[in-house]
Parts: sequence; C-alpha cells; structure tokens
Amino acid sequence: MQFMPVTILAVESSCDETSASVCVDGKILSNYIANQTVHEKYGGVVPELASRAHMQNIVPVVDAAIKEANCQLKNIDAIAFTQAPGLIGSLLVGGQFAKSLALSLNKPLIAVHHMQAHVLANLIAEPKPSFPFLCLTVSGGHTQIVVCESPTSMKVIGETIDDAAGEAFDKSAKLLGLPYPGGPLIDKYAKEGDATRFKFPEPQIPDLNFSFSGLKTSILYFLQNAGKSNLFKEEFTATEEEKKEFINNNLADICASIQHRIVTILINKLKKASIETGIYNICLAGGVSANSGLRKAFEEAGKKYHWQTFIPAFEYCTDNAGMIAITGYYKFLAGQFADLSVSSTARAEW
Ligand code: KG4
Ligand code: ZN
Repeated sequence: MQFMPVTILAVESSCDETSASVCVDGKILSNYIANQTVHEKYGGVVPELASRAHMQNIVPVVDAAIKEANCQLKNIDAIAFTQAPGLIGSLLVGGQFAKSLALSLNKPLIAVHHMQAHVLANLIAEPKPSFPFLCLTVSGGHTQIVVCESPTSMKVIGETIDDAAGEAFDKSAKLLGLPYPGGPLIDKYAKEGDATRFKFPEPQIPDLNFSFSGLKTSILYFLQNAGKSNLFKEEFTATEEEKKEFINNNLADICASIQHRIVTILINKLKKASIETGIYNICLAGGVSANSGLRKAFEEAGKKYHWQTFIPAFEYCTDNAGMIAITGYYKFLAGQFADLSVSSTARAEW
C-alpha cells in the first residue's frame, strides 16, 4: 500500500506577526513571517493597527510561503489556523482567510491553540523530545509550564497569576527608559553587567505558578530611590535627575540583576515541576527563550539535574506559522478537524 504525503498550509495571526507555513509529513518547507513595524512608535501593539496590517499582509505572505515550499494549492490536504488565544481582531483575519480557502478548495480545516503550538515547536527539528515532556513557554503574553503526554494531549500545571515573563522584561525596560520591546535590550546590556550587584526580591508564590508584578514594583521603587542602600520600598528619595544619572551609570548591572531574577524565578519553578512530575525531558518555547541568560541557565540546570533539554530554533520560538503547521499535521493524523462554523476566541481553555 502506498501512502500519500500529508501537506498542511498554516496561517498564524494572533498578535502582530502575519505568518504562513507549508509542512509536508511533519517537515517544515517554508515559514514566512511578516513583522509589523507600525506599532514601534506606540510602545506596544495597537490591536486595530494589527488587524489592518494582517489584512494587507495575509495574501502575499501565504503566496510567499507556498512559492518557497515549491508547492501548489491543489496539493494541500488541510488548512490549519490559529483559532485562539490572541487579539480577537487579528485572529479573525487569519481565521476568516483559512475558512474561505478551506471552503473554496474543499479541504478540511484545522483549528489550532496558539499555546499548544508553541509547545509543539519542539517537534519541528531533530532531536525531538520523547513523551512525556515538560515545556516552559515564555512569551510576551504567557508564562506556562505544560506536561505534554502526546502531540494532542497536554496539561498546564503552572502559569503566571499576573504578568508574563516577556512583559516583566518589557516593563522593566520601560522603567529604564528603553524602547519597546525592551526584552532583547535588557539581554544585550546584561551581557556586560554584574548580575549579583542588585538583589531584587524573589516572589514567594505557591505551587508551580509565577508572579512578576511584584518584581516590576520593586524595580520602580529601586529606581526612584536611585539604588540608595538597595531600597525596594516606597521611599522616593531621589530626584528625576539623580534617577537618570543612576540608570546611566549602572545600566549593565541593573539589567544583569533584573535578568538574573527573572531567570531564577523561571528555572526554580521548572526544577520544582521536574521533581514533582518525575519528568526529565524538558523544553523551552516562546519569544523569551531567545534570552541568552535563560538559555545558559536552562542548559546548566540540564547538566546539573540530568535533564534532556530542547529549545526550538529561534524562528520557531517567536510567533510563527511553522508551529501552527506542525500542530496541524499531528491534528490531521489524529483526525481532529474543525467545522466551518468554528469561531476565533481571544481566550481559550485547554
Ligand atoms: O513569543 P513572542 O514573540 O510573542 C508573544 O506571543 O508574546 O514573545 C515576545 C516577547 C517580548 O516580550 C520580548 O521582549 C521577549 O519576547 N523577548 C526577549 C528576548 N527576545 C524576545 N526577552 C528577553 N530577552 C530576549 N533576548
Ligand atoms: Zn506566541
């Protein structure tokens, strides 16, 4: 008996990246991503502008992904799209596009959960983690620890109760007067700094959950006190001028200390999750896994605690359609198709 290859076309539009990908038998042949620069001057993503940019980008991006994969529309077996969670206007553009294409080509539709796709980005390249594995997903909108039993069976065992890890990086950067998104800049300055110089408090959150909002507040007070005696309390002893001067003179050490605290919060919970579940195959996912401090601490923890560690290539860590395509592929194999009446939702349970 001869098996035909399974070809999936996937689109991702949950936030501010418009992306399309073609995947054949679990191999990603293209992963085209259009970044939206329109938000830069606003210091964050503007939902309405994101939806409009998706509408402009979606057709050329899908065209580019199909061409790059050297594929034709008639060879596509199913269309996968990000159904949730995300910005509703952005999700709707990709969702409506996917539905229209599925209807016109008379092909099945596959609805993908964006956070599950981040986890399954770890199945794109060799070596792949074996099941079950743990995944720490760290992005601008989410921070979760997930147990993944199979490509279609996952459970969240810990998550943030307030800000996401990426938000913690971006908000800290904003307090330092750095532009959005500040995460990569904190990473850059941290490389030259002393991470032990300023000891930001570690939040005491039970279970496997995270909290980053207290860290943001302690950084705010610390800067308002211009680092005098390492105060993290609401004292406000410094003038605006003193604060700026303090930041300018100590930027690398402040960034290294902030990064160190965020990374230790993440790694400590991951360690706890591994002990509690007895799982030693451990993955990272999401845009913050680009952080050099986190990568280093993750690899070091792996050596120390005998973990098998996995991190997807950078293009599959930030928002991308390749991860939607690989998830679509496994859902196709499991026969998990969506009806054309499926609706996009900003929030979604697992
Ligand atoms: O996964 P992602 O691309 O988009 C979301 O789904 O949110 O993650 C974006 C987040 C931003 O908060 C950004 O500052 C952060 O990832 N980020 C970093 C680094 N690169 C991206 N944070 C710290 N260090 C980095 N090198
Ligand atoms: Zn994401």
